[in-house]
Amino acid sequence: MTTTSTIPPIGFGTFGRTGPEGIEALLSALETGYRHLDTAQSYGTEAECGEALRRSGLAREDVFLTTKITGDNCQSGKLIRSLRQSNDTIGVDRVDLALIHWPVSPTGKLPMAEYLAELAEAQTAGLTRLIGVSNFTIADLMEAESILGEGRLATNQFERHPLLQNHKLVDFCRSRGIAVTCYLPLARGACAGIAEIEAIAGAHNATVHQIALAYSLNQGLIVIPTSGRRDRIAENFAAGAIRLSPAELERIGRLDCGARQIDPVWGPAWD
Ligand SMILES: NC(=O)c1ccc[n+]([C@@H]2O[C@H](COP(=O)([O-])OP(=O)(O)OC[C@H]3O[C@@H](n4cnc5c(N)ncnc54)[C@H](OP(=O)(O)O)[C@@H]3O)[C@@H](O)[C@H]2O)c1
Repeated sequence: MTTTSTIPPIGFGTFGRTGPEGIEALLSALETGYRHLDTAQSYGTEAECGEALRRSGLAREDVFLTTKITGDNCQSGKLIRSLRQSNDTIGVDRVDLALIHWPVSPTGKLPMAEYLAELAEAQTAGLTRLIGVSNFTIADLMEAESILGEGRLATNQFERHPLLQNHKLVDFCRSRGIAVTCYLPLARGACAGIAEIEAIAGAHNATVHQIALAYSLNQGLIVIPTSGRRDRIAENFAAGAIRLSPAELERIGRLDCGARQIDPVWGPAWD
């Protein structure tokens, strides 16, 4: 089984889903059928994920849990302790996937050999089933593979949607068997009003937001949209059933305009 097939292709993003309203949204996602929650140490939603999972009545093994290690914890001696803390906060023995959130921090590049060695140790210790990275460039991925060896990284999670298609990075990940997880897969709603996508949505009796998700899903990529609204949570999940034709995929492919939304000044030198 490949890692792409072990990570449910539609996950629920949890950035901003804090407190009782956040738990309600997460519970609504689980009731709708999502079986993959994406949290991070920096989101303040790890406890909400655990609470929603328990309230849902679903078995632990039926829900894929991802968390991300924040930059401050990407040092030897800190990462494992922080992941134990994340597991305790969620209320599980282990997560399914632990990612390095960023290869850089506001103060510069993080020590990759140190944090990857400890991430691999965390996996061996059973604190996470799979390991991976986020916001890694091709150069970062090559460096990571030189440290860990090929085949260890389950995924690279980065911004990807019809308006920022990141072809080079997607192709590189594919060539290395690293699953692509698309964050901001809805471009935070920016696909609304784009004539090509509106037309394709009309042909499928779907919304532009569903087409944005279907675009990445139909290419075998993983998407992690979020919403605080029950109707949109369901609408986004239903995008999993949409099959776009090769011609439609090609038309959307032409809309790439490099419209990156997450671009901190201290961020990596993107591909
Ligand atoms: N690894 C990283 O560095 C990183 C960075 C950013 C995000 N992420 C992950 O990616 C997840 C998704 O990113 P995101 O939330 O920023 O972007 P997104 O999923 O592309 O967009 C979410 C926004 O779109 C709106 N929306 C959702 N469904 C909609 C629909 N069907 N119709 C119209 N509007 C809709 C939501 O508003 P309403 O709530 O009002 O519906 C929300 O404002 C995050 O939750 C997080 O888990 C990871």
